[in-house]
Amino acid sequence: MSSWIDFYDFKHSVIYVNARHCDVHYRTIAEDIRKLVPSSSAHVLDYGCGEATSADLVAAACTKLILVEAAPNVRAALTQRYTGHPKITVISAEQAAALPKGSLDMIVMHSVAQYLSTADLDRLLAVFHSQLKPGGLFVLGDIVPPHFAAPAAALALLRFGAANGFFWAAAFGLMRIFVSDYLRLKKTVGLSHYAEAVMLERLKRAGYAPQRASHNIGHNQQRMTFLARPV
Ligand SMILES: C[S@@+](CC[C@H](N)C(=O)[O-])C[C@H]1O[C@@H](n2cnc3c(N)ncnc32)[C@H](O)[C@@H]1O
Repeated sequence: MSSWIDFYDFKHSVIYVNARHCDVHYRTIAEDIRKLVPSSSAHVLDYGCGEATSADLVAAACTKLILVEAAPNVRAALTQRYTGHPKITVISAEQAAALPKGSLDMIVMHSVAQYLSTADLDRLLAVFHSQLKPGGLFVLGDIVPPHFAAPAAALALLRFGAANGFFWAAAFGLMRIFVSDYLRLKKTVGLSHYAEAVMLERLKRAGYAPQRASHNIGHNQQRMTFLARPV
């Protein structure tokens, strides 16, 4: 395993401690994303959507939902799940890069930026900027701050587990992550962290008018969501 895409393509990702965690995780995210959809006629793209088991909740709030997933096995499972859905399309990262300019009302990229180099993030910010319609919205979620990220993530997972009936599975899952490829990849490939001011500046330089949202999408409120409109 040599990349974060490989890590997330692993059939039973150690990131989810059990099926209930996976289910509650994706439902929580979908409910948060749905609140940000600008209108029922919106065309929405979710970049690095993962398993997206509750994407139908987002689709119900818009006209078209494009799910983008780079990991081939995850993408195959998504395609199987949503084939025939009238609003949902599943595509690869390469296909996403070729989408027409000015065609999207909202782009979400949640819990992906930490796995990208800063150069790759900047490249995506530019692509998304061109693909958004004037007045469109870019939602950049789950940005990991530079300090105390790991203990904050562990505590947030335990709290999330306690609130949703999987506390002990969460505790066991944390130990499993400890002996998994996650820590090895963290050392060899690295994870990207951004302070609030640094990310605001990065988004401004990429041509957006950004602001930090009061709530981070999902369960970990130590991390940050940014709402950015192309200018
Ligand atoms: C933590 S999951 C996030 C899934 C979902 N958005 C969520 O919030 O639960 C990280 C996602 O980033 C994707 N990813 C990792 N590295 C990537 C890269 N270099 N390019 C595109 N996607 C990448 C993985 O395939 C995976 O779907």
